[in-house]
Amino acid sequence: MKRIVSLLALSLLFAGCAEIEFGTPDTNPLRDPTLTDPVTLINERCTLCHDRSRIDMARKTRDEWTARLNRCQSYGARMDEVEKKELGDYLYIRR
Ligand code: HEC
Repeated sequence: MKRIVSLLALSLLFAGCAEIEFGTPDTNPLRDPTLTDPVTLINERCTLCHDRSRIDMARKTRDEWTARLNRCQSYGARMDEVEKKELGDYLYIRR
């Protein structure tokens, strides 16, 4: 019985490692926790006035994204400067 338990513990340990190794960027536990996940930001802050499809459909240069984020911010979208940069980078390079 003891052996089964330790085997189980061992496999859980390995499962944990696999998760770290293969996690996608959005779920990677090694990601700097001081940075806010852009996908979460979009879902929480950008869907109050319009739905995600507006954002998902849009293709812009990096500068156009900054201009768009500034515009939505002027309408009332909440984001600080770090979040704005993270969002702009993400929206620009996604897909
Ligand atoms: C306070 C309301 C509000 C919030 C919150 C908001 N937006 Fe907008 N957004 C608008 C309005 C109003 C329009 C349409 C008018 C316009 O084009 O300026 C729009 C249009 C858009 C468009 C389509 C026009 C284009 O340039 O392609 C995109 C993309 C967009 N918003 C992205 C975002 C993102 C990303 C966020 C989150 C950071 C966000 N919005 C949050 C008000 C908002």
